[in-house]
Amino acid sequence: MMQGKQIVFLGAGSMAEAMIRGLLANQLVEPNQITVLNRTNAERLKELQQQYGVTASQDLDSCISRASVVVMAVKPKDAEEIFARISSLIDHSPLLLSVIAGLSTETMTHWTSKNTKVVRVMPNTSSAISMSTTGYCTGKAVSTEDKAIVHSLLSGFGTAYEIEEAKMNLFTGLAGSSPAYMYAVMEYFEDTAKAHGFTEEEGRQWIVDVMAGAAEMVRQTNRTPAELRAQVTSPKGTTYEGLARLEAGQAKDVFREAIEASAEKAQEFEEAFKQTTKSKA
Ligand SMILES: NC(=O)c1ccc[n+]([C@@H]2O[C@H](COP(=O)([O-])OP(=O)(O)OC[C@H]3O[C@@H](n4cnc5c(N)ncnc54)[C@H](OP(=O)(O)O)[C@@H]3O)[C@@H](O)[C@H]2O)c1
Repeated sequence: MMQGKQIVFLGAGSMAEAMIRGLLANQLVEPNQITVLNRTNAERLKELQQQYGVTASQDLDSCISRASVVVMAVKPKDAEEIFARISSLIDHSPLLLSVIAGLSTETMTHWTSKNTKVVRVMPNTSSAISMSTTGYCTGKAVSTEDKAIVHSLLSGFGTAYEIEEAKMNLFTGLAGSSPAYMYAVMEYFEDTAKAHGFTEEEGRQWIVDVMAGAAEMVRQTNRTPAELRAQVTSPKGTTYEGLARLEAGQAKDVFREAIEASAEKAQEFEEAFKQTTKSKA
C-alpha cells in the first residue's frame, strides 16, 4: 500500500525519529521513500541520514511537491509557521499528518484549505520499536481509500486506533504521554532496590521483567487486571500490605490526575491554536 510513496517528515526530533525507525524496522517503506527536514540543525539531519539511510534535505518546496504523505512533527509553538510555509505547496493533495499535540483537524484545515487531507495523529515514542499505541482521526477531505493508507502507515510503527476527535486530548494522556509515566514507575522501583542494597541495574531488570510479564498476563489470559490482582492478593499477605499502602497513598487518584493533566495541557494547546484561526477570521 505504501509502495512508491514518498513520505516527508517536517521536524527531525525524537518523535520523527521514533516513527522512522519503526517504519523501517517493519519494512513498511524503504529508506529512499523517506525525506526528513528540520529548521536549522544540519548535524541532526546528517545523523538521521547516516543512521537510517533516509534522505535529508533543506529544500522544502521540492520535497513537498514530491510527497504523498507529509508528517508534521514540530513542537506546538512552531506549528502555525510551518503550516503557513507549506500551504501553497500542497495543491497535489498529499495526506497531511500532524502529530502535534492539541492541533485539531479544524485548525489544520483553517491554516491550509478545506480540501486539504488532514489527519490528526497521536503516537508515542514506542514507535521506535514498532510498539506505539497510536490514535488518529481524519478531516472531512480524507476519503475511505486515504484512510486505509493512513491506517496502514500508522500500523507500520505499532497499533493504530481510529479515535473520535473529541477524545483525542484524553487519548494523549492515556497513550501519548503515558510511556513516560511507566518509566517513572520503573525509576521508583530502581530507587527502592538501590536504597536496600541492590544495584540500580538489578532493580531495573526486575521491574522491566515484571511489567512485561504483567502486561503479557493480561494479554494472554484474557483476564482483567482487577481479576489478576485479586488472584495474587491473599488477605493480610505481602501483596495485600503493599496494595494497601498504594491505596493509602491514593495512587489511583494520582495516576488519574496525571492522565487528566496531560489531556488538559493538550486541550490548552487546542484552544490556543483555535484562537489563531479566530484572530484571522
Ligand atoms: N515526544 C513524544 O513522546 C510525543 C508523543 C506524541 C506526539 N508528540 C508531538 O511530536 C511533536 C514533536 O515532538 P518532539 O519531541 O519530536 O520535538 P523535538 O525533538 O523538539 O523536535 C522538533 C523538530 O521540529 C523541527 N522544526 C521546528 N521548526 C521547524 C520548521 N519551521 N521547519 C522544519 N522543522 C522545524 C526542529 O528542527 P531544529 O532542531 O532544526 O529547530 C526539530 O527537528 C510535538 O508537537 C509533540 O506534541 C511527541
